[in-house]
Amino acid sequence: MKHKSKLPIVGTNIFTEMSALAKKHNAINLSQGFPNYPSPQKLNDLVNHAMNNGYNQYAPMAGNLDLRLAIANKYKLLYNKAYDPEKEITVSAGATQAIYTIISTFIRTNDEVIIFMPAYDCYEPAVKVNGGKTIPIQLSAPDYKVNWEEVASKISSKTKMIIINSPHNPSGTIWQKDDMLELQKITKDTDIIVLSDEVYEHIIFDGEQHQSACLFEDLKKRSFITASFGKTFHNTGWKIGYCCAPDYLMDEFRKVHQFNVFSVHHPSQKGIADYMLDPETYLGLNSFFQQKRDLFLNLISESRFKFKPSKGAYFQVLDYSDITDENDVDFAKRLIKTFGIASIPLSVLSHKDKDDQVLRFCFAKTEDTLKAAADILNKI
Ligand SMILES: Cc1ncc(COP(=O)(O)O)c(C=O)c1O
Repeated sequence: MKHKSKLPIVGTNIFTEMSALAKKHNAINLSQGFPNYPSPQKLNDLVNHAMNNGYNQYAPMAGNLDLRLAIANKYKLLYNKAYDPEKEITVSAGATQAIYTIISTFIRTNDEVIIFMPAYDCYEPAVKVNGGKTIPIQLSAPDYKVNWEEVASKISSKTKMIIINSPHNPSGTIWQKDDMLELQKITKDTDIIVLSDEVYEHIIFDGEQHQSACLFEDLKKRSFITASFGKTFHNTGWKIGYCCAPDYLMDEFRKVHQFNVFSVHHPSQKGIADYMLDPETYLGLNSFFQQKRDLFLNLISESRFKFKPSKGAYFQVLDYSDITDENDVDFAKRLIKTFGIASIPLSVLSHKDKDDQVLRFCFAKTEDTLKAAADILNKI
């Protein structure tokens, strides 16, 4: 039997490819975006406690109510914004599932979705598999600044959704208030849905404020915000996340969500809810990761790589144009095979493989790993 692929050009993703190569060559792996240190003991204990105290059957479809209340409290505390835990917050199997479900709930054949590239790799396939078309807006190193006139020129009657992501994977840049105001202006009086991927909301440096879509009244009315506890609490393998949106959007989301995963791992939800009772569990993240960024950048300050310090997320991009003319994929592979360090070439996350000669390094790693990585980078 032959079946026409819905995603003919999609192969193994770059993160899997680079990690496999890193393993083969026993390289230090700063390619994939996850920590190499344990999930907090207190949180593990709370999840275990939930497991041993009656949280082993299905959670409610929208998520454990204590967790939805904890999420609602967080939005009140950080942004002074209200999300109704009954109707406007749903717990998901990581941010990825929330993103996929949002896209499949709203995108129909020939709908257009604006995405900013380089971009995290799950947006485009989700749009395509649902019959939509992505309209890419390519941003450039080193600042990855948005030209809002260009964005306005790409909006048409077919534009159904705009996907944004700040703090940004892979560039480590953040959007400022002005960007959000521009987005609010160009979407005003339209039916465009904004999907604001805020998984790195608690990882932002140098005293900058995270510009959540919920802070802008007209954006809040049209936005889904997606978030990931895996990123926030150092346990990406648990795959627990959530999304928030006004009830008229969330009603539709839940119609699809309930027949997709229905609900996600219950003891983890209860454990996370109890852990979040102390806001320091997420408020402390900025300084925790800023120390790692600063350590990494100090250690490589004499290397031949050029950089602007990351402003958010746990990624640092390094410009290698003073070292070689090689394209970024070839250079990233050579770094693994010859020098023993793995990174992500940004061209593979860009439109038409645009290559600015930059590589992404994840610094959510122990001090020893960052030191060993810096020793290698300093020799290149
Ligand atoms: C920008 C962005 N969005 C979403 C995700 C996925 O989050 P989760 O692991 O919770 O599915 C990631 C993971 O790397 C990410 O970087």
